[in-house]
Amino acid sequence: MSTHTGTNGDAGAGAGPSAAGAETAGAPEAAYRAHFRVWRGDAGGGGLRDFRVEVNDGEVVLDIIHRIQATQASDLAVRWNCKAGKCGSCSAEVNGRPRLMCMTRMSDFARDETVTVTPLRAFPVVRDLVTDVSFNYEKAREVPAFVPPPGLAAGEYRMSQVDVDRSQEFRKCIECYLCQNTCHVVRDHEENKAAFAGPRFLMRVAELDMHPLDAAEESGLDRKRTAQDEHGLGYCNITKCCTEVCPEGIKITDNALIPLKERAVDRAYDPLVWLGNKIRRRGRDT
Ligand code: SF4
Ligand code: SF4
Ligand code: FES
Repeated sequence: MSTHTGTNGDAGAGAGPSAAGAETAGAPEAAYRAHFRVWRGDAGGGGLRDFRVEVNDGEVVLDIIHRIQATQASDLAVRWNCKAGKCGSCSAEVNGRPRLMCMTRMSDFARDETVTVTPLRAFPVVRDLVTDVSFNYEKAREVPAFVPPPGLAAGEYRMSQVDVDRSQEFRKCIECYLCQNTCHVVRDHEENKAAFAGPRFLMRVAELDMHPLDAAEESGLDRKRTAQDEHGLGYCNITKCCTEVCPEGIKITDNALIPLKERAVDRAYDPLVWLGNKIRRRGRDT
């Protein structure tokens, strides 16, 4: 994922945010002026700054941030790329709610409402609205990859449609990390980060554990056990906050986390499942 991160000098250069175009001849008249409060600062500290800024019909919060950058605060740092809800770069908190700025319409707010934009709270600030999300890349690396089934070449894989549909729902993830930022396990508890992968990566574990062709178990990797012991599945108390903020509408809790918990509990505590697995394994080994 390439990403524009920077200030007015380089962010979005060439891609043409509509805020810049709005200043040119033929652009629609400014509809009204909004009151924005934008967090400015760096790892050493900072605070909210006030801006009065014009808003035109059809604009989103990212347009307004770009207009502030273009007209009032040329060194305002903001990360963005696609302006279409697909790159996952422009995550921030708007009036306290984690959202994609490019998908948050100004028409969602009353004209006299103050719109407050702050950086994602669960990750360290780099500058202004840009945070360091490397926690997520570290967690991604800790999830072992799909293990190809032995004896099948690429092109010979066959799956039922219901299994394809499940994976495809999870693969809609744009890695915006809004779910990771929202989850209370890490949002207010920095100390939990070492032991907890977060909803996005527990979803990845669930996807692989439910994948009918994943041969992890045959290769000695127990994804259910690692979900509990290494990725912190037990920290999740299925509050569904992650699901509520997902811009792709992925049912993270219902379709990934709860099934993964059920499978892990079955594996650990159900004596019949334990016996069945043992018999199945013995059959495979003989
Ligand atoms: S459902 Fe689990 S992973 Fe999602 S926000 Fe709640 S505790 Fe976090
Ligand atoms: S699961 Fe949804 S909220 Fe979480 S990173 Fe992916 S797209 Fe973003
Ligand atoms: S700029 Fe790509 S998701 Fe918002």
